Amino acid sequence: MIYDVIVVGGGIAGLMAAIEARSRNNKVAIMTKGNLFKSNSSMASGGINAVLDKHNNSEIAKHINDTLKGSYGLGEKEAISYMCKRAPHIIKKLSDYGVLFDKDEEGNIAQRSFGGGSSKRTCYVGDKTGSAIVQALIKKAKSVGVTFLVNNFVLNLTTLKGRISGLVTLRRFDSSVVVYPAKAVVLAGGGYAGIFRGFSTNAPDYSGDMYAIALRAGLALQDMEFVQFHPTGFVKTSYLVSEAARGEGGYLVNSDGERFVDELETRDVVSRAIAKQISEGQEVFIDLRHLTKEHIESKLPSLYKSAYLQAGIDICKELLPIKPVAHYSMGGIATKKMVQTKIKGVFVCGECANSGVHGANRLGGNSLLEGAVFGELAGEEARKFTRKKQFLPIDYNRITKDIQLVDKIFDSETTKNFNAMRVSMGKMMFEKVGIDRTEQSLTEAFSYLTYLRSEVYSLHCVNKERTNNVELVAILELRNALEVAEAVVLAAQKRKESRGSHHRDDYKLTDKEMAKPISVTEFRPNFFRVNFKDNGLLNGVREYILQR
Ligand code: FUM
Repeated sequence: MIYDVIVVGGGIAGLMAAIEARSRNNKVAIMTKGNLFKSNSSMASGGINAVLDKHNNSEIAKHINDTLKGSYGLGEKEAISYMCKRAPHIIKKLSDYGVLFDKDEEGNIAQRSFGGGSSKRTCYVGDKTGSAIVQALIKKAKSVGVTFLVNNFVLNLTTLKGRISGLVTLRRFDSSVVVYPAKAVVLAGGGYAGIFRGFSTNAPDYSGDMYAIALRAGLALQDMEFVQFHPTGFVKTSYLVSEAARGEGGYLVNSDGERFVDELETRDVVSRAIAKQISEGQEVFIDLRHLTKEHIESKLPSLYKSAYLQAGIDICKELLPIKPVAHYSMGGIATKKMVQTKIKGVFVCGECANSGVHGANRLGGNSLLEGAVFGELAGEEARKFTRKKQFLPIDYNRITKDIQLVDKIFDSETTKNFNAMRVSMGKMMFEKVGIDRTEQSLTEAFSYLTYLRSEVYSLHCVNKERTNNVELVAILELRNALEVAEAVVLAAQKRKESRGSHHRDDYKLTDKEMAKPISVTEFRPNFFRVNFKDNGLLNGVREYILQR
């Protein structure tokens, strides 16, 4: 089967894009690497921001202003206005598609407070909003005839004279390299917070693949230094404690039982306040004991259950220990006109895109909105683009290279442990490129990544069985994660100031001269130039691996 439009990613952005791209004459497929229900959209539990009345201009203006303020001078007003004005329509569309938003006593869609919002505008389905939306959109996509191609790992884009011609993928079932021609491709495959493995709310297979693919295709990445640390993850498992818990009135308290921050400040502020408490030897907890059991059961049912199952804690009676964890990537593939890229026929939306709406920090509840609004737009643009277009010939050099890469990973022997490398990279990223950064921590991070890159090229599968080989996929993911991690570190080194989620201990102030995005392609020529052996850090670096 051949598809006119292939959408990579099965979260809210990808699903919306596929539904819009589909028409009587347009065959559309959604391609995912793994489980549709483990996307970051499914995990975003607390809600989706929207003013419900499209004529309420003053409330829409407040939504625009809150988002702009939250972006610390890097948000693009045009994109933010587009998103906020489109929000009432999106909530109506999602309701029409079957999302049963919670209602208030009058039967209107209920809304809760979220950090950085000057009004209550977060619509929700208990504390499983993302997964309720994803389920409704999957049903809708199936009903309009979108095909789901699951367990296909996209390796690269193929282009001809600046236009997309198709995708090269790894079919996980038998480890074959398979080419899918396409007239248009929408990249909607999520963010890179998963490179902080062990300290992230993202599913383990979030390795920043979209970004690595984009870099290899010559696209620029922007704002990569801005990683959102969600204030509240479970201490042991990093599982997300939704912002809904604070929106519904939960307090943050330290070991002395003291509150130390306004719980509804923006996430960068709350996360830093928690990190400071922890660095001073305090433990930090979310306290919900003052809420009634009925309230918790109706508004926070998933948290109630998972706190019990994962931490053995009854949140109605006990404090739940929390820590900040990497959650969301503000950085993304550079866009023009919000969803277009410089490769004709390649559109981007959702977390992997830098559509201009978050800048240095994202407001909670704006990610599902961004995904829905720009997913819809990317799908429309992809559909229009394919009109009267022919399929282009495929560049077989690209495919040959990918086949050779897969064969090489199978063919040789190794004693190296790629899982330990991924875990140690996550730990190192959290410690050195986390909530607080310095020139020294970033230099050490870069050295370690350089070392890992030198090691990763000699990784091979121990198990040579080609059916569903998880080692092969893990090695390919690690290669991508390393490329993306380098991009984050290089951008963080370049931003010698503190702004939003990017906090430098050695440049604590915001520099108004730096109120512009940093693009990562600038750095590409330097990627292999740093000689890690020269800077004396190699021993420290090796210890990271040995410690695991
Ligand atoms: O806390 C949360 O429920 C996450 C929501 C979001 O990332 O927007």
